[in-house]
Amino acid sequence: MDGVKNKTVFKAHKAVRVYSPFLLSFYDLYVYKCVSPVFFQCPEARIVDFYLENISKNHLEVGVGTGYLLKKCLDAGKLSSIALLDLNENCLEATKKRLAPLQADTFKANILEDLPFTAHRFDSIGLNYVLHCVPGTFKEKGEALGSLGKYLNDDGLLFGSTAIYHPGQNVMAKLVMDAYNRNGIFNNRSDIKEELADGLSKHFTDVRLRQIGNVLFFMARKSTKG
Ligand SMILES: C[S@@+](CC[C@H](N)C(=O)[O-])C[C@H]1O[C@@H](n2cnc3c(N)ncnc32)[C@H](O)[C@@H]1O
Repeated sequence: MDGVKNKTVFKAHKAVRVYSPFLLSFYDLYVYKCVSPVFFQCPEARIVDFYLENISKNHLEVGVGTGYLLKKCLDAGKLSSIALLDLNENCLEATKKRLAPLQADTFKANILEDLPFTAHRFDSIGLNYVLHCVPGTFKEKGEALGSLGKYLNDDGLLFGSTAIYHPGQNVMAKLVMDAYNRNGIFNNRSDIKEELADGLSKHFTDVRLRQIGNVLFFMARKSTKG
């Protein structure tokens, strides 16, 4: 592995170290009742509805946290087969447990490195609030999304959201993101909306972006052109 790649992989591991069982015990409350609606100015309902609208019955969730959104989808009858991929074992365990008795296949992996799938193909892949944790520019993160896209069935959908800086943001959004970038939990200082659109367009068709407060939602279909 070359030096730059090595450093990026180190930063990716550093970003997920924070998700201890203790942090996960209050994560939902902190993120969905405080950070999203108050600091990022994006109501929880907008994210939940986005998931309910786009998830398929054959889904891969990447960067699972506590499984909060997946549980909402499960309760709404939207899930029947699920795979979970995360770099942090605690997140995989918490989410698997939360979705039981639905059997979830779990994969511990970094989205910036080789992916662990062989015969798996999904109709949807979701990544909510993951890209702002991942080191690199949107150009590099776009390559990781392209690699994930290879595991979509034809016409499958990749979707998610990520926090970005923007000029009109709530002062708390900036303070919180600055602090998280300083300690390596976030890596989104140079994330620019247009670069995500470009990164996705390289690998997918029908790319759509929408921004609510600091939250940038994205949707992209698998290109059937190869
Ligand atoms: C901020 S949490 C989001 C959790 C959940 N998706 C949500 O919306 O509440 C980020 C999640 O992505 C995972 N993650 C971050 N970087 C990753 C990477 N490079 N590869 C795989 N998982 C990663 C973390 O371990 C964590 O579960």
